[in-house]
Amino acid sequence: MKAIAVKPGVPGSVHLVEMPRPSVEEVPKGRGVLVKVLRVGVDGTDKEINSAEYGAAPEGEDFLVIGHEGFGVVEEVGPAVSDLKPGDYVVATVRRPGGSIYDLIGTNDMTTDDQYFERGINLRHGFLSEYYVEDAEFVVKIPRGLKNVGVLLEPMTVVQKGITQAYEIQRRLRVWRPRRAAVLGAGTIGLLATLVLRLKGIEVVTFGRSQRPYLNSDLIEELGAQYVSTEDIAVQDFAVKNGAFDLIFEATGFSPIVFDAMQALEKNGVLVLSSVTGGDRKAEVPADKINLDFVLGNRVMVGTVNANREYFESGAKDMAAAVLEYGDWLERLLTHPVHGLENYEQLFEALTNGNGVIKAFCEVA
Ligand code: BGC
Ligand code: ZN
Repeated sequence: MKAIAVKPGVPGSVHLVEMPRPSVEEVPKGRGVLVKVLRVGVDGTDKEINSAEYGAAPEGEDFLVIGHEGFGVVEEVGPAVSDLKPGDYVVATVRRPGGSIYDLIGTNDMTTDDQYFERGINLRHGFLSEYYVEDAEFVVKIPRGLKNVGVLLEPMTVVQKGITQAYEIQRRLRVWRPRRAAVLGAGTIGLLATLVLRLKGIEVVTFGRSQRPYLNSDLIEELGAQYVSTEDIAVQDFAVKNGAFDLIFEATGFSPIVFDAMQALEKNGVLVLSSVTGGDRKAEVPADKINLDFVLGNRVMVGTVNANREYFESGAKDMAAAVLEYGDWLERLLTHPVHGLENYEQLFEALTNGNGVIKAFCEVA
């Protein structure tokens, strides 16, 4: 079968490989699931992997099959799999367990290991191939009615985890009814975070760099959220003028904005950070003021990465709710389909000169 791979450590090495089709027998205890891949989304992480800034091949191999935003249909299951059957639409999780206590209890997204395993990213082949095989433990069934948007589930889980963690943390307050939220970034994650917060009935202001109107700001406004360009006003100035935020979800990829966000948080508020920033930017900040306000206002800041199975399940539910509430809104994020694995170069083009691109994805089959 065909697959798209990179040579980790070699910039721009993305290429097509031929490899044997996997079989359910490769998974122990009869728990294998063979998935025929239908669509795979790409994002900034894939771009970084192809630029050799990130990513590693499985041990003993010199290439890594990329793709971590998978969507497919079950082709065959092992004898011990009863919860999935051929024809089911599925998405596989990305992170695989390491050895820490958090991995042992099924929350491998919270691992304290230094090395982690992620399909399509680090030490495990990904989903940009015609088929993949996986343990049923890591394969999540999604409703048939979501088949046109199932490829958005993995990015959706990043949002689910961040927001769920915020609510978990806020149980410290006995009662927490967030009224106003800000989302920083209007890309796929920012759009999905706006959606999830709007589904909860929270007032949302989403900040992006570009001036409205454009597709992303239109989509945000259709959710009943407000779009603001940071070229017009900085986040903390907006908060001074219009009120601070109970919850802020950061997804810009631009780390200095975190310190602005810290100054836009309401008392008892929580700031969720989700950007993976591989660079070495420095920032000068009003440290005393930020610290004092955090202390006097009982504010919280939390980082979040990846997602375990429960967030794939809750993500699918929110996507179903989104279809009921907002119709084809999710489908409109799928701006750049690329047909066939052999056209992988177009996928990377869409990622690099991303004008008008929200989600680029490969129609594998
Ligand atoms: C993926 C996450 C992953 C993170 C860090 C993101 O692009 O969506 O699943 O944990 O990169 O590798
Ligand atoms: Zn990703």
